[in-house]
Amino acid sequence: MKIAPLRRKDIPRCVEIERQLFAGDDPWSARAFHSELDAGGYYLGAYNDDDELVGYAGLATVGRPGDFESSVHTIGVDEAYQGQGIGTALLRALLAKADELRAPVFLEVRTDNDRAVELYTRHGFTRIGLRKRYYQPSGADAYTMKRPARSAQEVG
Ligand SMILES: CC(C)(COP(=O)(O)OP(=O)(O)OC[C@H]1O[C@@H](n2cnc3c(N)ncnc32)[C@H](O)[C@@H]1OP(=O)(O)O)[C@@H](O)C(=O)NCCC(=O)NCCS
Repeated sequence: MKIAPLRRKDIPRCVEIERQLFAGDDPWSARAFHSELDAGGYYLGAYNDDDELVGYAGLATVGRPGDFESSVHTIGVDEAYQGQGIGTALLRALLAKADELRAPVFLEVRTDNDRAVELYTRHGFTRIGLRKRYYQPSGADAYTMKRPARSAQEVG
């Protein structure tokens, strides 16, 4: 398994995985992925030994040096490949980028997505808010979670 910058030619595969993972919650279109890349988002793909995309994750950052703020916009792993550490590897790579920028990281996650909440908690995120009916069309609620910026000393 390899993690590398997401290639535009893999976007159709991202859309396929999105539909598998987020069927009831308005899965992203190819257009959505293209606009994230156009906006300069930090997007990574996880590739299997046959160089096929099996997962992806993206971080968006706003602000200026000394005052950056990042958000995890998406993270997904093909169901057939879950439970092998790929989600953890993708998240760590996003967080390493945020740490380089000394940026706090925010995200939204469904309140019933125990696996993802647990993964984020293990990586330093805490719940800071609740957004009712954040996901559509399902109407599911989301937690907002935050991981504080790492200081220069912590990052090393
Ligand atoms: C959340 C997600 C990205 C994690 O990806 P993954 O590749 O399965 O993650 P990992 O293999 O690194 O495992 C992360 C943790 O999930 C849990 N987990 C993984 N597979 C599991 C399974 N089959 N059953 C139960 N728990 C499982 C484990 O607690 C694991 O932690 P561990 O290190 O203690 O084993 C993936 O489950 C996914 O794509 N989910 C659907 C999309 C989604 O919810 N995205 C997040 C939206 S905010």
